Amino acid sequence: MTSDAHAPSPVAVRRVDPDNAAELDAVLDMDQLVWADDLRTPRSQALADTPGRAAWIASIDGEDAGIAASWDVELSIPAGGGGASLRPVEGLTWVGVHPDHRRRGVLTALIREHLRWTRDEQGRSISVLKASEPGIYGRFGYGVTSSTVMSSFGRGTTFDAPPAVRQVADTTTLRTTTAGPEQGRRWHQLARTCARTGAGHIVRSLPDCERLLVDHPESRGPREPARLLWATRDGHDVGAAHFHRTPTWTHGKPDGTVGVFFLISTDAGARLAIAERLVDIDLMGTTEYWVAPDDALALWLPSPRSVGGSGMADNLWLRLVDLPVAVTERGHAADLDVVVEVRDRILTDNTGTWRWSATGGVGTCVDTAEGADITLDIGDLGAVWLGGQTLGARAAAGFVTEHRPGAVAELDAALRTPVGPVGTIDF
Ligand SMILES: CC(C)(COP(=O)(O)OP(=O)(O)OC[C@H]1O[C@@H](n2cnc3c(N)ncnc32)[C@H](O)[C@@H]1OP(=O)(O)O)[C@@H](O)C(=O)NCCC(=O)NCCS
Repeated sequence: MTSDAHAPSPVAVRRVDPDNAAELDAVLDMDQLVWADDLRTPRSQALADTPGRAAWIASIDGEDAGIAASWDVELSIPAGGGGASLRPVEGLTWVGVHPDHRRRGVLTALIREHLRWTRDEQGRSISVLKASEPGIYGRFGYGVTSSTVMSSFGRGTTFDAPPAVRQVADTTTLRTTTAGPEQGRRWHQLARTCARTGAGHIVRSLPDCERLLVDHPESRGPREPARLLWATRDGHDVGAAHFHRTPTWTHGKPDGTVGVFFLISTDAGARLAIAERLVDIDLMGTTEYWVAPDDALALWLPSPRSVGGSGMADNLWLRLVDLPVAVTERGHAADLDVVVEVRDRILTDNTGTWRWSATGGVGTCVDTAEGADITLDIGDLGAVWLGGQTLGARAAAGFVTEHRPGAVAELDAALRTPVGPVGTIDF
């Protein structure tokens, strides 16, 4: 691929050799410095959690200045005819720049290399991330592809689910276990099944699922060991939640908090059964679990106002690194024939005018010399890729320009999904 002509940069980026212990040490040291780590986790455990598979170190004049890494994850993408299919994508993570080298283009150099590598060496069409701060990633072509309501459910919250859903919930069995790596394979398999029900799920790799269920006392603070709540029906897993309780007492009354890391389910009945258990645990006052706007847990409350917490936030950010491949991988909800002019100032192979067509749910994108119906940035497509927003909304905000009346609505119809993207775990 011909990436863009980089402006001359004093920053050099090198890929870390995962077998080189000194380099992994350097990555961990930089991460702990940037994130003000309390260093309670034993070094050996912290090193085991360091993403050596794909990590980069940026340097200026030979001095280490920043790091980035990438997790091997799967993302559920809208499929033709509803539902979703899983695609391997890269999960950008562990981004950190040494305090002495901020605002000198270190992050910029690291992201350019991550995007180039994702496309040229991994052959993957998408990079995703969770952002620490909202202002960082839009400039690199990432769009907010799913949102979350930073929810908080009070003890005994009533979910007003229709009787048919409650009937299924009543036939669901719940079992609480203490989380451990031996349950990683079970979680991984269930997560892959759940992910096919809708767009926006991130499924961690099997080794990462196993690793993430290791819960060291030193990294816990005042909370209990992590628990896994399994939901089964007819001998099959239909859902799971990863949670932990932090006990507190206010004015002599028990008022603990349940923190939920993930809640996955194959159907609404399992979701209801798990959620009702999580909001009614003895000695707890609040359950914190952030939900997507379309989550049934939000819809079973009287109105969005009933969802406690602190409002909306970005959830997953998505960056298309190979537009024509991404178009063939994503299902289309309507036949389509539009000409789209795309701007991408980092991966200039995406820049150009594309005839984007779809028949029977299958899309293609080929470059063309025809005049454009629509002009947009690659980040606009990232924002709408999972169905969490429309190009119409982005056109109304002035980001997307329509040259042929109706063209934006046609592309929106092809990208429409039955349900908005789910919330996803942190990574
Ligand atoms: C965020 C961070 C990685 C930025 O690194 P950096 O090397 O200073 O970034 P760059 O110099 O490449 O900046 C590129 C652009 O992003 C902007 N930018 C950088 N950090 C930003 C922030 N937190 N909010 C808004 N804009 C930011 C810069 O101003 C610059 O803008 P410009 O192109 O208009 O000049 C660094 O400050 C850091 O390590 N922060 C703490 C850890 C963190 O938040 N990591 C992100 C994890 S998701």
